This record gives sequence, C-alpha cells and structure tokens, in this order.
Amino acid sequence: MSKPRLISGIQPSGRLHIGNYLGALKNFVDLQNSGKYECFFFVADYHSLTSNYDKDEKSKEINNVIKSYLIAGLDPKKSNIFIQSSILEHANLAWILSTLAPYGNLSRMTQFKEKSEKQKNNINVGLFYYPVLMASDVLLYDAKYVPVGEDQIQHLELTRNLARRFNKKFGDTLLEPKPLMTKATRIMSLNDPDSKMSKSIPNGCLFLDDSPEEINNKISKAVTDSDLKIKFDPKKKKAVSNLIIIYSEFSGRSIKEIEYDFKDKSYADFKENLTDLLVGELSVFRDDSIKKSRIKSTLKKGNQKAKKIAAKKLKEVKNKIGLIT
Ligand code: TYM
Repeated sequence: MSKPRLISGIQPSGRLHIGNYLGALKNFVDLQNSGKYECFFFVADYHSLTSNYDKDEKSKEINNVIKSYLIAGLDPKKSNIFIQSSILEHANLAWILSTLAPYGNLSRMTQFKEKSEKQKNNINVGLFYYPVLMASDVLLYDAKYVPVGEDQIQHLELTRNLARRFNKKFGDTLLEPKPLMTKATRIMSLNDPDSKMSKSIPNGCLFLDDSPEEINNKISKAVTDSDLKIKFDPKKKKAVSNLIIIYSEFSGRSIKEIEYDFKDKSYADFKENLTDLLVGELSVFRDDSIKKSRIKSTLKKGNQKAKKIAAKKLKEVKNKIGLIT
C-alpha cells in the first residue's frame, strides 16, 4: 500500500522565524519521522518574488531555507526536498487553474489585502495570483495533506475549491487536500500580541539564527499582560499565552505543567527560563556547517522525484482539458 502524500513549502524571503518553525517546519520533521507519509517539501521561491526583494540576496535566501530544513531534521533519504522554480510544471498548472479561479475569491484573500497594505508601492499581479500558484503546488502532486500555519488556511480552501471546479468540469483528476496544523498554528509578534509574528515586523520576530544576545534582548522586551500571573488565557492574557505556547513547543512540557512550574514565579523568572530554553534549542540554527555539496545532492534527488510526478500530472490535466500533449 502506498503512503498518502504530503506537501508544503516555505518562502525564501528574509530569515525564518520561530513562527515558521513552530507552525510549519517542526511539524514537517515530525510528520516525516512518523513514517506515515510520502513527504515533499519545497522552497517557494516563485512566491517570494511577489514581495520586494534584492536579486543579490535571493540565492542565499533560497539556500538558507534548505539549510534550515536540513538542520531542523528533514532528511533527504526520507523526504523529497526541491525548489519550486526548478519544476516548471508549477507555473504551467497555475495558468490552467487561473482560468477556473473566480476573480472575486482572489480579491477577498486576507493575505492579498494585508500585503497590498504593507507594500503599497508594489501591488503586483503576482500578489493577487499567488493563491493560484499555491493551489498548483499542491494539486500537481495529488497531495492528501498540507502542513501549514493558520494564515494559509484560506489559500488551502481555494485549492480545494479549484480541485472541485476542475473535477466537476473535466472529470475526476485532482485530489482535494486537507490541512494539517500544530498547536502553535499562529505565533504572535513578541511586541504586539494582536499581530501575527511576521518578517515584516522584525522587532517582534525571533529569528531561528538570532544570537543569544538578540534572543535575550527580544524576550526581555516582549510584551506581557497587566496582571502578574503566568497563566494561559488566550483571550484575556494574549501576550503571556503566546510566550507559554512558545515555551511549551520548545520544551515539550504541557501548558498545565508550565503553569504549575511557574505558579509562584515572576514574569522576569519566566522570561529568563524561556531565554535559556530558546538559546539552547535554537543553537543548531546558528551553526553553519551544512556543506554546499549536501544541498546540491539533496536538491538533485528531490527535483528529480518532483519533476517525474509533476510532469505526469500536468500531462493528465492537459489531456483532460483537450490540449495536445
Ligand atoms: P510562508 O513562507 O509565509 O510561511 C511558511 C509557513 O510558516 C507558517 N507561519 C506561521 N505559523 C505560525 N505562526 C506564525 N506567526 C507563522 N508565520 C508563518 C505559515 O503558515 C506557513 O505554513 N504561501 C506559503 C508558502 C507556500 C505553500 C505552498 C505552503 C507556497 N506554496 C503550498 C503549502 C503548500 C507561505 O507564504 O508561507
């Protein structure tokens, strides 16, 4: 019996932060190690072109995502790791899917609206079309599951919707995927518990390769709540609850255990402990020992496998819609 397939990707835009790690990457590793899935993880470099970027930094950013994948524990023997733009079928299927995607649905996408606000001088068509490319990334591989953080759920709904539309019009071809989420599905900014942790608010963002000093600095400045209890209450105590989730995910201790451990302790004690924990757990990401040759061999294998599946699926899709293949 073949295993169900799973796929996900991360954009190479700037450095990865603990939101990316806890909402996605850590889960990628756990899912890979469960042995229950055939895993595909890619670098969403085409997606990253929709934000402002520096062409001289891009290849470094792409390599850094692959390095983070490997450091976090993705293993090319168990997972297929590849670069989105290396598999030309992604952009091809996206075009076909775009002809089924309602303009109204795309213009209502939260991320499109948020990003259009943030980069007012660069509201490019790619930003609008972005969820269609994402649908293509997933549908090309008949992926049953997609591990993502909460901010991608709306895009995944569109993916499901496009698969249904296609199947209805042309017969059963595309598999409707389901999201797989962790407990840390939405890590909030350290300096604003009402905003998602995101590269666009660097001060509230803890990057995976931050130095011990930076970690200490950011955690000690992290916003807390007015009463002084270390208590998990995401409605009334958003800031501390966010820190407790981070603590829980990195320590493996449950929220109840953490509340108990710190019941008579101050915020300062809690933050000091959290800093020590993070400095230790993130130290691997500061070690730059992944060799270029390892990245190259990882991609060679991953790209080959991805290409084979994607080419077959695109051919099937083109046949179904009446194109000559
Ligand atoms: P990206 O690169 O913005 O984020 C990568 C992953 O990290 C998750 N994430 C978070 N999780 C919890 N808390 C946060 N603060 C936080 N910030 C980010 C995201 O949910 C995501 O899972 N469009 C995608 C990349 C993509 C993709 C795909 C994913 C392209 N094609 C196909 C899955 C399948 C994106 O921009 O993720």
